[in-house]
Amino acid sequence: MNVIVVASRKGGSGKSTLTAHLAAHVAKPSRRTLVIDADPQGSLSLWHSLRGGERPALTKPGRPLSDTLKAAKKDGFEWVFIDTPPNKSPIVGEAIRAATLVVIPTRPSVFDLAAVTETIEACRAEGKPYAVVMNAAPPRRGESESFMVRDARAGLSGMKVPVWSGQITHRTDLSFAVGAGAGVKEFDPDSAAAAEIAALWSAIDKSVKVINSAQGGSGAMHKAAA
Ligand SMILES: Nc1ncnc2c1ncn2[C@@H]1O[C@H](COP(=O)(O)OP(=O)(O)OP(=O)(O)O)[C@@H](O)[C@H]1O
Ligand SMILES: [Mg+2]
Repeated sequence: MNVIVVASRKGGSGKSTLTAHLAAHVAKPSRRTLVIDADPQGSLSLWHSLRGGERPALTKPGRPLSDTLKAAKKDGFEWVFIDTPPNKSPIVGEAIRAATLVVIPTRPSVFDLAAVTETIEACRAEGKPYAVVMNAAPPRRGESESFMVRDARAGLSGMKVPVWSGQITHRTDLSFAVGAGAGVKEFDPDSAAAAEIAALWSAIDKSVKVINSAQGGSGAMHKAAA
């Protein structure tokens, strides 16, 4: 069972949005997927109630979270996504300790970037693989990334922070789909937003394969935190 924790101290960075789209993208009968809504704001629980149907499954974290994860493993879940609150509550640390990979979304603006360091420190302290994901980014122009994204990448790479090479662009499709209880692939399968979520999933899947094989793999988006 693989546990993807989506975490960032910055409110509104896109944790719940990315968790919903990734989980909806991944869940299928042959790939049992569980979302743990560890944020008392309940964004993912709201999304799930709008969604209807059983895939992905959703639960709130028990105390301790490790009990919920043990039960999930016993139930045969292959992928678990944990959405976390933007604060210092103990559940965030518990989730990071249980993670296979921590995904840290950030908008490419200075205030948002400044806020990722605390989550990165938490991953490093626990020795957990992690990667930053640029979210709600200005669109690319052809092959070129916007100046904001390039600048953000330069700042993060100066801090030796692994960053996914792609981006999730600011697109209303992502918000509309969540409001309809959908993932963007279900909402508009041919959209650019759906293609970006698929690309992010491929990168996560590749990283997790590398992590589980315990071999240094080139091209994986994460860095095993030292
Ligand atoms: N890529 C995107 N394109 C367009 N809108 C986005 C994108 N990512 C997030 N948003 C919007 O930004 C807002 C905040 O996103 P979201 O709730 O996912 O952030 P969060 O990190 O979970 O916030 P919190 O820390 O409060 O839990 C929402 O209105 C969401 O629809
Ligand atoms: Mg949220």
